[in-house]
Amino acid sequence: MSSTRMLSTGSLTVLSLAQSVLGGTLKQCTGTLELSCHNDTKVADTCCFNYPGGSLLQTQFWDTDPVVGPDDSWTIHGLWPDHCDGTYDATCDSKRAYKNISDILKSAGNDDLLSYMETFWLPNDSIGEEFWEHEWGKHGTCVSTLNPSCFTDYKATDEVPYYFNTTVSLFKSLPTYKWLADAGITPSSSKTYKLSDIQAALSKNHNGETVYVSCSGNAIEQVYYYFNVRGSVATGEFVPASPDNGDDGGCPSTGVKYLPKNGGGGGGSTTTTTSKPTSTTSGGSSPTPPPTGSFSGKGYLNAVVDGSKKGCIIGSGSWYTTGTCATFTAASSGSGFTLKSSKGYCSASGGSLTCSSGISSADADVFAADGTNLANSGGNDWYADSVPGGSTQGTVYSEKGSHKTTLQIQWQSV
Ligand SMILES: *[C@@H]1O[C@H](CO)[C@@H](O)[C@H](O)[C@H]1NC(C)=O
Ligand SMILES: *[C@@H]1O[C@H](CO)[C@@H](O)[C@H](O)[C@H]1NC(C)=O
Ligand SMILES: *[C@@H]1O[C@H](CO)[C@@H](O)[C@H](O)[C@H]1NC(C)=O
Ligand SMILES: *[C@@H]1O[C@H](CO)[C@@H](O)[C@H](O)[C@H]1NC(C)=O
Repeated sequence: MSSTRMLSTGSLTVLSLAQSVLGGTLKQCTGTLELSCHNDTKVADTCCFNYPGGSLLQTQFWDTDPVVGPDDSWTIHGLWPDHCDGTYDATCDSKRAYKNISDILKSAGNDDLLSYMETFWLPNDSIGEEFWEHEWGKHGTCVSTLNPSCFTDYKATDEVPYYFNTTVSLFKSLPTYKWLADAGITPSSSKTYKLSDIQAALSKNHNGETVYVSCSGNAIEQVYYYFNVRGSVATGEFVPASPDNGDDGGCPSTGVKYLPKNGGGGGGSTTTTTSKPTSTTSGGSSPTPPPTGSFSGKGYLNAVVDGSKKGCIIGSGSWYTTGTCATFTAASSGSGFTLKSSKGYCSASGGSLTCSSGISSADADVFAADGTNLANSGGNDWYADSVPGGSTQGTVYSEKGSHKTTLQIQWQSV
């Protein structure tokens, strides 16, 4: 258990286990605690009373294009402290907008939490780490009960694991997919539903309070579960509440679609593919792209599997799915461009993508672009043994061989 490790790192204080497993030690909230958004008088201690963000929203996505997460589960958007009237503060402390969420969780012994997040808390257009940084920086830093002043012997980042643990715990207690399925509301490319039936199925499981449902076009896309909290976000009681944002979510009252993530679904009438079309190198009629395509200046090399961004290339030329993307410089050279990271020039001539100080500018490969993709012999496929989990760094091969995973490498200017 992570607790053993935390306790053996040597503080002489007698730690309260429940309060210290995740990060630093939160001050205890004792006595009669006020429910957020419900106080009649001023409450001075905002470490035990969420203020001004007293309305806590656990927000979830149903992303079908591109698909995010398992076919039979909604995914986490975040945990947002809103004022009790639909307004909210954002990015409350830029000094605490940490850029190393995965490392913080790992170093606090939260590997299980992180691996859950890698499946259930992913964005549709970037990697987990970037999304978590965004949610933490924009919303997490505004949670008054996780303020540094709420900790004894606060050390930077102590508050972060609490935010992620609480968000994941709440999400686990809010199984939207199951609740809808229990009411006969299942994804389908052809069936439609009444908004009131969707709302009834969710509200029934939220103590009768309304759950905010939003649509993109006619299709459901997000749900927000509102709570008021008695005590700290880390340890307090979450009491179901109704939306206070005065927004109707934009769904039609009838004909609401709940599209399947796998593109198949009940109707059987359509087979949609969620992969982004990639350009093909076909006959002479296609225009020749400029030799550098979009590869110029500074950028990230995103790794795309089955049309979804799964990770990115790191400085050595390997890839991973969590963590910060390395910045590469693409410089026009001969019939294409060279790529260079902080480690050095890149080459794939040894069979795998490698960037190192041992590669001189003369030995650097001249790469070509296929639109936004990094071209490889015969197309834009690169290969790996698998999609690496956690912080594992996987090799990117230039030849298929026995490597089962195919990926594309796409440029993102920064
Ligand atoms: C609730 O508590 C906050 C924080 O102390 C305070 O600013 C606000 O005025 C209180 N609300 C009422 C109705 O007293
Ligand atoms: C994360 O970043 C913060 C601020 O930059 C730093 O204080 C902290 O030591 C880092 N934590 C880990 C585990 O890398
Ligand atoms: C990704 O999600 C954001 C936020 O909901 C949305 O605005 C955007 O359109 C989505 N992008 C794609 C490619 O679906
Ligand atoms: C994570 O949050 C849940 C719900 O608030 C809590 O019961 C649990 O103790 C927390 N986990 C740890 C390791 O503190």
